[in-house]
Amino acid sequence: MPLNRPLLIAGNWKMNPTLRADAVALATAVRDGVGPESTVHVAVCPPAVYLEAVDAVLENSPIGLGAQNMHWEPSGAYTGELAGAMLIDVGCTHVILGHSERRHGLGETDEQINQKLRAALAVGLIPIVCLGERLAEREAGRTEQILETQLNGSLAGLEPERAAGVVLAYEPVWAIGTGKVASPDQAQAAHAFIRRWLAERFGAAIASRVIVQYGGSVKPDNAAGLLEQPDIDGALVGGASLNAGDFLGIVQAARAVSAAGKRH
Ligand code: PGA
Repeated sequence: MPLNRPLLIAGNWKMNPTLRADAVALATAVRDGVGPESTVHVAVCPPAVYLEAVDAVLENSPIGLGAQNMHWEPSGAYTGELAGAMLIDVGCTHVILGHSERRHGLGETDEQINQKLRAALAVGLIPIVCLGERLAEREAGRTEQILETQLNGSLAGLEPERAAGVVLAYEPVWAIGTGKVASPDQAQAAHAFIRRWLAERFGAAIASRVIVQYGGSVKPDNAAGLLEQPDIDGALVGGASLNAGDFLGIVQAARAVSAAGKRH
């Protein structure tokens, strides 16, 4: 089946690497590996202090540049925070919002993520809104309930005409950084639930345009099985994005799926 949506492979470098030269080297290797054009959309999300340096590396490349967080206010007395306009000014195209390490590690709420989403859209950043259940929630059979709560809260008030420009990332918390990837069937079931929620909220036409990435221990050898699923439109890659060869292997898997079409 031909793809309804382009695939998006994004690398979330988190708080790595700890030297600017290493960030530049990683970005350079990814740029050279991706080449001058790409059927698959690719983005890298380095630490904020390296955004400008990585943007210089990515000039004239099709690779997008993402921040890992932002504040909802346009400017002001918010020590340690970054405004959307600043991210645009240093070349960002994307911003990750509501990553589980911020939701569960730093107490970020759906309401805050919703405010950030509005602020990101207002300045023209493509938000990558993360959601996903914890292990105990999955084991208690509450996965869909958790996803529904996160979708209702973080996408509250989103206008249908803007919804198609939002990227979602389903990242089961138990799969992040653990090496325990969700099976393609498990991930597809969650993605199908998210797609149904989108269709109910925004209508089927818009729901069919929203990119929903999977994240959690994606590696070159498990990427194809996930990306072949009908509702999985890419990957948000943590650990494997720190190694250019591994990240490019995932991009390659996405290109193969994009060329061959979805299996289902
Ligand atoms: P991981 O991280 O690929 O290291 O599991 C994914 C993420 O946190 O986005």
